Amino acid sequence: MNKINAIVLAAGEGRRMHSTKPKVLQTLADKTLLEHVLTQVRPLCSKVYVVYGFAGKQVKEAINDSSIHWVEQAEQLGTGHAAGQAIVHTQDDSTSLILYGDVPLITQATLISLVKQAQKNDIALLSTVLDKPTGYGRIIRKNKQICAVVEERDANNKQRAICEVNTGIMAINSGLLKTFLKRLSTNNAQSEFYLTDIIAMAADESKTIVSVITTNEAEVAGVNDKMQLAQLERTLQHNQAKQFMQQGLSLKDPMRFDCRGSLNFGKDCEIDINVVIEGEVTLGNGTTIAANCSIKNAKIGNNVSILANSVIEGADISRGASIGPFARIRPDTRIGENAKIGNFVEVKKSTIGADSKISHLSYVGDCTVGSAVNIGAGVIVCNYDGTKKHHTIIDDGAFIGSGSQIVAPLRIGKNATIGAGSTITKYVPDNHLSLTRVQQISLKNRKKPSKNK
Ligand code: UD1
Ligand code: CA
Repeated sequence: MNKINAIVLAAGEGRRMHSTKPKVLQTLADKTLLEHVLTQVRPLCSKVYVVYGFAGKQVKEAINDSSIHWVEQAEQLGTGHAAGQAIVHTQDDSTSLILYGDVPLITQATLISLVKQAQKNDIALLSTVLDKPTGYGRIIRKNKQICAVVEERDANNKQRAICEVNTGIMAINSGLLKTFLKRLSTNNAQSEFYLTDIIAMAADESKTIVSVITTNEAEVAGVNDKMQLAQLERTLQHNQAKQFMQQGLSLKDPMRFDCRGSLNFGKDCEIDINVVIEGEVTLGNGTTIAANCSIKNAKIGNNVSILANSVIEGADISRGASIGPFARIRPDTRIGENAKIGNFVEVKKSTIGADSKISHLSYVGDCTVGSAVNIGAGVIVCNYDGTKKHHTIIDDGAFIGSGSQIVAPLRIGKNATIGAGSTITKYVPDNHLSLTRVQQISLKNRKKPSKNK
């Protein structure tokens, strides 16, 4: 195979998005539309050209890939003009694959067959057959041979009745494309340089033009507004869910599952409804995630239970642990084997040892908690003095009574006990009981205040 270039047309603003971002930076599954296209073409192409126009700086920063050849199209004079900005940089004997930055679900397999066809013939167009072809360029054939693409606005009634449409994606010899692009004019309904006009030119010169017809509508669907963006998001999510289920993941409802990153899982994992996975998440064997959890960048071991409505980010959770319901695990947290983090507990930048329990309504931040520690209900680790964060160590086997405040920096020794309701500010040695309590007073025969004067 000779060299393959990708030319991705991405100069459009995308006004119908009503956004401050250029259209190609809208996201599907947390990845920009343009990045979706680039992910598919990078492995196939030796050079990738992206034609940018609107908000170029923003687009380059978002993609942040030094291997991309950025080509500016200062004024948007049409798809032919856009392709022309990049084609001048290519070698004549290479094959150019033209793609659109706003057609994100194009697949590598289709692009490979398109390139193969282009290398056997002169031009390969990707087409599809639609019940409602309105808005698209129509593929015109004479004796079954493709002889032109006519834009909707330039088409006559007979041509408008044709249901085979141009997806815009094509592969063509670069030298050939250069000569045709030079000859384009703006003599059409939109006064633009149409890339599609090269098809009639090629047919006139008896070049062979073939089409690869795809039946996968989503793969050639363009995104113009938020509605189409949402529709493609659902398609993408459903496709991912199907793939995960084929690999053995149990999803209670594949229509109510979102993965906006990568998910790896062992055997017998179950995910209930409305779970959102972001970044890189790994699940061991036999791990379950209950309804309405949000999990981002987490490594979760075997047989872990994540109970309903929990939010986990940047955490490493060891086997047999139980998290939630309504727990929040924040970045840089490690939860040990068989540990239990219960409801309304927030853990931040902390290590919790094996078999330790923080069962109810607590905040634990910047802490190293040993194994078999029991932190009672409503315990607050006061890690912040208003300017700095401080570290706390709670050694193995310690017991922290409910409603206590542990004021950092501090160490609580092994098997120490903190009496309920204490405010602890000083080191507690191993095996000691510490408590700070105001003496209780009880006044007898107290007369209750009365509401009626
Ligand atoms: C184009 C095709 C049409 C096809 C349809 C498929 C032409 C003339 N028509 O029409 O046959 O059915 O796509 O969706 O090619 N762009 C630039 N610079 C420009 C103009 C466009 O970079 O000067 C980019 C846009 O950002 C977009 C893509 O090219 O990503 C397509 O442009 P658009 O104007 O949307 O093409 P259509 O009119 O839809
Ligand atoms: Ca147009």
